[in-house]
Amino acid sequence: MKLFVDTADLNDIETIAGWGVLDGVTTNPTLLSKVEGEPDDIYRRVCELVNGPVSAEVVAEARAEMVEEGRRLAAIHPNIVVKLPMSAEGLAATATLAEDDVRVNMTLVFTAPQALLASSAGAAFVSPFLGRYDDIGENGVERLREIVESLETSLHDTEVLAASIRNPVHVTEAARMGADIATIPPKVFYQMLQHPLTAKGIDTFTQDFEARRARGAEA
Ligand code: E4P
Repeated sequence: MKLFVDTADLNDIETIAGWGVLDGVTTNPTLLSKVEGEPDDIYRRVCELVNGPVSAEVVAEARAEMVEEGRRLAAIHPNIVVKLPMSAEGLAATATLAEDDVRVNMTLVFTAPQALLASSAGAAFVSPFLGRYDDIGENGVERLREIVESLETSLHDTEVLAASIRNPVHVTEAARMGADIATIPPKVFYQMLQHPLTAKGIDTFTQDFEARRARGAEA
């Protein structure tokens, strides 16, 4: 499973990209509202930091305007993927953009039927949201499983991009059930890095090596 980061924060993107683990980036209007700067400048900088798909979301609501905004975003950099919301207008805009070879990430997907529609319209990626299901007391991981299974036999080449990830368990479960990608908030990336036994093990190895060196100095 490929790992994307779900943020518009350039410092976090640069840090996590520096680990050599990033295959792409997703943003959305809420994430952009949390950082300074013009969205187009942020997209350009993200594309310099990460060599992979970078999702930029449209805010238009009607298909013609979605297509226009999507074409404008796609022209910013070859790695830009146009993010469109799941809706009849979004599907129609996806079909038009896909005909022009503009890649679309269909977002706010919650069910397998929605994912099948997005795939048939030509979406390159569908983004099922896990955490927002959990927020309303439902099992987001199980809904993701249905979507992955439903698209397995799809004739279209659509990647499942597990989104709205809230913790490392979501990442593990997405990988186990065969999602193609997980887009992960920076906070969860930092959690994934750590385990108390790893930290303890590093301390022990360092202390043992230093003790050995001290014995050598005495001899
Ligand atoms: C997907 O691409 C979205 O940006 C994101 O994963 C939404 O997550 P949230 O439910 O934490 O806002």
